[in-house]
Amino acid sequence: MKLAPTSFVLLAVSLPAALATPALDSRSRHKANAVRANDFIRVDGMRLKDSHGEPHYLTGMNYWACMNLAADDSLGGEHARFIKELDQMAAKGINHLRIMASSEGNPEPQPFRMSPALQKAPMQYEEGIFVGLDRCLAEMAKRGMRATMTLNDQWQWSGGFAQYMSWVNNNEPISYPPSWNLTAPPQRGEGKTGWGNYTTTGSFSDYVTYGNQIYTNQKAEQIYKKHIETVLNRRNTVNGRLYKDDATIMTWQLANEPQPANPSSYLGPYSLEYPPNEQDPLIPWVDRISKFIKKRAPRQLISVGFEGKQGEWFWKKVHEPEAVDYGTTHAWVQNWGIYNMTDASQQNLDKAKSFVDEFIANSSRWAADIKKPVLLEEFGMARDNWQNDESKGEYLYASKATTTHKDDYFEHLIGLVVADYERGGAYIGSAPWAYGGIYRPETQVANEFGMVLAGDPPHESPGWYDLYDTDEAMNIVERQKRRVDKFHQKQCGGKQGGGKPQ
Ligand SMILES: *[C@@H]1O[C@H](CO)[C@@H](O)[C@H](O)[C@H]1NC(C)=O
Ligand SMILES: *[C@@H]1O[C@H](CO)[C@@H](O)[C@H](O)[C@H]1NC(C)=O
Ligand SMILES: *[C@@H]1O[C@H](CO)[C@@H](O)[C@H](O)[C@H]1NC(C)=O
Ligand SMILES: *[C@@H]1O[C@H](CO)[C@@H](O)[C@H](O)[C@H]1NC(C)=O
Repeated sequence: MKLAPTSFVLLAVSLPAALATPALDSRSRHKANAVRANDFIRVDGMRLKDSHGEPHYLTGMNYWACMNLAADDSLGGEHARFIKELDQMAAKGINHLRIMASSEGNPEPQPFRMSPALQKAPMQYEEGIFVGLDRCLAEMAKRGMRATMTLNDQWQWSGGFAQYMSWVNNNEPISYPPSWNLTAPPQRGEGKTGWGNYTTTGSFSDYVTYGNQIYTNQKAEQIYKKHIETVLNRRNTVNGRLYKDDATIMTWQLANEPQPANPSSYLGPYSLEYPPNEQDPLIPWVDRISKFIKKRAPRQLISVGFEGKQGEWFWKKVHEPEAVDYGTTHAWVQNWGIYNMTDASQQNLDKAKSFVDEFIANSSRWAADIKKPVLLEEFGMARDNWQNDESKGEYLYASKATTTHKDDYFEHLIGLVVADYERGGAYIGSAPWAYGGIYRPETQVANEFGMVLAGDPPHESPGWYDLYDTDEAMNIVERQKRRVDKFHQKQCGGKQGGGKPQ
């Protein structure tokens, strides 16, 4: 997710009470909501619908580490935390999780990366992490949650494109752009993990160029396609469902934030847009890979994982291929140089809000033009980190900072998405980045694989964009769900006296 041009990076059903034992109660609650294996979500015009034809709005959340959290302790898993966090998210009405269904390892231990990896080496899998993914899907199904399964990554935190390119080049070393290094100074002292700082072994643009060779490298594409087939044909060891026949998997996603070739210049008022490039290898790659998946998993949906900062031309080109069912956008006001997390001023916050006013209006129009819905799939804002004073030895991303800007921004941005949905626009939901749940930086201790498993992925400062279980942001997410449920009920009230919630 959300790396930026280098300059920016640096810097219920209830039983009668008498009958209900607690265990029965929670089981029956799960059952009422559960995702049946054949209840596939489909695109109907500019809307998502379930198998009963009911509208399906995505009250989403990013939870990339699910398979690692759900794995056994011996593989760095935190199973009790995983169950608790799924329950917390379900209680807020969340019905969609974007999770990783890929991560790649290297013969040499790599920094800034999910570990252990699902795919240790080309086509060699860590079965215990796959079992973690099985558990994620089985537990999500019980709670009425569906998944976006991300199959690759532009960025270093799961291995991704660069690891594929290293594999096909005799495991050559990878140069990393500025990334959060947990072991760099300042350190917290005996028995504690972090804080750390950014370190780098290469440039941002070189890293992107290196990874993007995957679009034209046949050997790398073969391995990626084999991975896709392996995941599609996986039989869940918990509930016996074949992944490609399980409606819990709503969407297969090509990759997290695949980037076009580096632009010759950045255009537009925010210097984010790329000039059009008909030759960009990303475009035929999206077409090829989306067709490859569609042929093998025709009942599930496909998205690309594109951010949309590159502007209208690229957004449309990347989402036009026939097998791509809906579009995505990611909105990163700090990473894109629009917002400053240590500036307490109202003007700073207002800039962020007016950027997303434009961005949501623009992308809704782009999506309507190509007649496909769009999901706001990633967005975040830091806490009020001007309250954390590094000169006094405080951690810049400490959880003690309040969230006044973030709450205002979330209310505003989620509000824009819901309003667009209610007026029949292209938006079909939102998913903030990312659930940290019960994690806090102040109590983080790395596991034997060097992981702290914050909501922020391993190449970014833990606590930067985390949503904690006690954060107001979770209530904003919940209110979104309530508002959309009411809207659905009003819409079909005349017909049926109220729609099924979901
Ligand atoms: C991370 O920081 C440590 C301590 O400064 C340093 O030794 C190590 O080389 C850094 N790792 C990378 C990959 O930059
Ligand atoms: C992190 O590294 C930068 C660049 O080396 C340095 O200026 C800054 O002081 C460091 N931060 C802390 C908290 O030590
Ligand atoms: C962010 O705001 C702080 C506080 O006003 C300021 O000191 C700092 O220079 C700003 N950073 C950038 C990159 O503008
Ligand atoms: C929205 O579109 C307008 C018109 O094309 C453009 O000028 C503006 O920069 C866009 N803004 C964003 C944030 O995408």
